Order: sequence, then structure tokens, then C-alpha cells
Amino acid sequence: MTNITELCPYPIIQAPMAGGITTPELVAAVSHAGGLGSLAAALLSPLQIIEQAEHVRRLTDKPFGMNLFVQSKPQIDFAEVESARQLLQPVLSALGWDKLPTPTRWCLDFEEQLDALIVARPAVASFTFDTLHGNQMQRLHDAGILVIGTATNLQETIVWQALGADAVCLQGIEAGGHRGTFIGAQRASNLSMLALLQYCAPHMQIPLIAAGGLMDGADIATALAAGAHMVQMGTAFLTTTEAGTSAVYRKRLLEAKSDTTRQTRAFSGRLARGLDNQFMQLMEAVAEQVPAYPIQNALTSSIRAHASKSNNTELMSLWAGQGVARCRDLAAAELIRVLVSEWHSAS
Ligand SMILES: Cc1cc2nc3c(=O)[nH]c(=O)nc-3n(C[C@H](O)[C@H](O)[C@H](O)COP(=O)(O)O)c2cc1C
Repeated sequence: MTNITELCPYPIIQAPMAGGITTPELVAAVSHAGGLGSLAAALLSPLQIIEQAEHVRRLTDKPFGMNLFVQSKPQIDFAEVESARQLLQPVLSALGWDKLPTPTRWCLDFEEQLDALIVARPAVASFTFDTLHGNQMQRLHDAGILVIGTATNLQETIVWQALGADAVCLQGIEAGGHRGTFIGAQRASNLSMLALLQYCAPHMQIPLIAAGGLMDGADIATALAAGAHMVQMGTAFLTTTEAGTSAVYRKRLLEAKSDTTRQTRAFSGRLARGLDNQFMQLMEAVAEQVPAYPIQNALTSSIRAHASKSNNTELMSLWAGQGVARCRDLAAAELIRVLVSEWHSAS
């Protein structure tokens, strides 16, 4: 099988970003410009996974990636759900709601999503939140799909390599959105992207992809010089023209003059980094008590949907990495062109 680094001319992966951000237009524009576009499929139904992959293929014949959250059906403890509703009371009061709507489902079925991804057959599939199990890695390889595992500490990196992954994406603490920690406490995996890279590189025989806080070509040069074979950039692509980022979220990103991000469990039950806002502040005292993903994520979905509909950036999740102040308002192909030019001048 092809080495992942040979799939595209430039060592730049546009990160998968769930929630409608990585539109087929964005993915295709990045791949067409010489990077590797990635479609976030974690929140898509099996049919949507197939349709969106077809959509990308109508726009480009270049390789692209798809990404899933590895998750199993949660055991629901209704007493825990009831106390989680109580913990959300400050947010409900801010909204003027007397009751939190019951979620219609807790999460999508990973096995069904994986089946659809294998049918969609992207060049690359990346996975986060856990490792693959049973014959899942073999099924992907049999379909000619390269596999990227996500890791946030050395143990996870070693596990993915031993499982036969084709590359590992190392997510530093700077990274926007959720990180993929699956061994140890999420807060304990707190190394910066560079420290993680330097620590893991001597143990690895497969390509390493650096992620977290990378915003320009100089950052790319630094990560590659420290042992990365490729970089994965999320926040930098949030403000590109083709991204599905809403106008109000985009405005908050482009207005950030410094790192106003922090990590919270309050939205989803997994640690994730985003712009500080009223939701995080209202939930600060109880954020460590909320139930684990996907329960809390499902419980807050109606709040986040309402906030998005009413353009209320204070109650929506505004995922972003520590490099947010360096976001640029460019078309994706132009961002790739600028990144490559900056990278060449820095190396
Ligand atoms: C809005 C947003 C959504 C994200 N969604 C996903 C996702 O669906 N799957 C995933 O593996 N990583 C996701 N990530 C993490 C990225 O893959 C990547 O690790 C991160 O963006 C790198 O840090 P940066 O944002 O500082 O560039 C997301 C990040 C952001 C900012």
C-alpha cells in the first residue's frame, strides 16, 4: 500500500472537524490544492457518509480522508442523567427554559458508520477517542484504505503502531476541539505538540502527523524539523471560505487577538478546547461532575442547536486551538498556497 506521505504533494492535512465544518467543498479544495482534505464523518449517518464522499469525488479526483469517533453504545444510568440535567440548571435559567428536552439518541452506531466508510472507500480513514477492535483494521486495509490513529501520549502511539496503523496523528495540548485520549486521564495527557513529538519519535517506525496550534508555514517547518512527516491543521481552516463555520463563530475566531481558549468537559463530557464563553463560565463549578461523552454531549445538543439557530455565541461550543489569534480569512486553496510558501521560506 502507498505510504501516507505520498498521497499528496504537500505534507499538510486539513483536520476533520465534525459539526458541518468540513464541507465536501472544503475537503475537495484542499486536496485539489495539494494538501489532504479530510471529511469529518463522526456525526453523519451511514447514508450521509456515502453521499458526502460521492460529493467530494464529484469535485475532485484527488485522494481525501474520512474520520470517525470510535465509540460503543453507552450504558445509560438514568439517575446520572437526572443529576446531569440538574447540573445544567444555570444554563437553562440563562435560556429561560424550565426543562431540558430529552435527546432523541445518545450517539450514532459506530459499526454501521464504519461499514459505510468502507463502502465509501476514501484513501485514508482516521479514528479518534479509541482504537479499532477485532478485524476492523484488516477490513480497512483489505479495502485499500490507509489508517491514521489519533494519540495524545506515548502509550497510545505505541498501541496504534502495534495494531498496524499506517500513521499516527499526535495531538498536543494546544489542539482545538476534542482530543483522542483513550489511555489514562484526559487531563494527564498534557504535553505540547513539540514535546509529544520529540518524546514519541524515537519509538516510531510509521509516519507521525503533528497536530495542535499549527497556524502558518513556519509552524509547519518547526514540526517537520522535530520529526513529524506531516502536519494536521484544524483551526487554521475554520475561517477558510469553504468551511461550514457559521458567520457568528467565524467572526469570533477572526476577532480573537490572543489565546482566549480553554479546555472544558462541560459541553460533551470529554475535554475539548474552545473559545471561552458564558456556557463554560456558567458550568465551570460543575464541569468535572458532568457525565462522560456521549451522554453529556447528547444532553447539551438541544442547547447548542438553539444557540446556533439564534446566533448566540455565548451558549454554543466555539472549538478552537491555541493559535486562534492567527486565523486568516482566505479561500482554502489560497491558504494552502500561502502555507507552502511560508514553509519553504522558513526551511
Ligand atoms: C472545530 C473542530 C472540530 C474538530 N472535530 C474533530 C473530529 O471530528 N475528529 C477528529 O479526529 N478531530 C477533530 N478535531 C481535532 C483536529 O483533528 C485537530 O487535532 C486539531 O484541530 C489540531 O489543532 P488546531 O485546531 O490547533 O490546528 C476538531 C478540531 C476543531 C477545531
